Amino acid sequence: MTSKFEKVKASQLLTMKETGKKIVMMTAYDFPTAQILDEAGVDILLVGDSLGTVIQGHETTLPVTLDQMIYHAEMVTRAAKRAFVVVDMPFPYCQLGPDEAVRAAARVIKETGANGVKIEGGQDRIATISAVIQAGIPVMGHCGLMPQSIRKLGGYKIQRNPDQLDNDLQSLQENGVFAAVLECVPKQLSFKMSQKYKIPLIGIGAGKGCDGQVLVFHDFALWAAKEPQELPKHARVYVNLHEIILKAVQNFAKDVRSSDFPSDSESFD
Ligand code: KIV
Repeated sequence: MTSKFEKVKASQLLTMKETGKKIVMMTAYDFPTAQILDEAGVDILLVGDSLGTVIQGHETTLPVTLDQMIYHAEMVTRAAKRAFVVVDMPFPYCQLGPDEAVRAAARVIKETGANGVKIEGGQDRIATISAVIQAGIPVMGHCGLMPQSIRKLGGYKIQRNPDQLDNDLQSLQENGVFAAVLECVPKQLSFKMSQKYKIPLIGIGAGKGCDGQVLVFHDFALWAAKEPQELPKHARVYVNLHEIILKAVQNFAKDVRSSDFPSDSESFD
């Protein structure tokens, strides 16, 4: 690991893979959360378009706008002293072709100071991904389950096509992505792909054979109006903030109603 305030670089992620050090990645959407994750030594902060579901309460990530991504990413980059910050390209900029994608990715980098962008897609989106990389913007790929293509994929399903994944990763590596997320892929397949490709593969629902793992902060902290059993099978709850905050707010309401709050020491003469 680098010293606390030495910024993680894309080249270091490659070295981590080569030396067998697992990469830790989490989503962050605001300043205080990003500050804690950075202090804890998370290597990559992802400003995921999952904010559409966990922050905005939508059913999918599709409604999230570019301006919203920039708004959240700017807070996260300001907090990140060490972590490498990656911002999701929201639907549909990369689906509209290379010109739209380069313009949008350039706005993300210029207006937020992030270190790179993440683009969903493989072989069939490679012209767009390549154009963004040619524009000097580091790109992280995202294969397997791609939430922006949820209508085409027919739902949030495990992606089991080995040839498709192999072709996607081959194209991504050849065109210069610095890493890729593998989402909802059988563990034997992602292990094989991690062995085959040089770029770091960061899994979510892809087993422990990947070069690193990413967890959505709001799943990690149960920071949503969800029961643990409603979370995806691959998510692990490390702290139940829903329960902690619910109890604290109930205590606050009780103290207000009984005139226990504010006390004299919490008031001014
Ligand atoms: O948007 C997001 O949070 C993501 C992760 C699931 C990898 O893309």
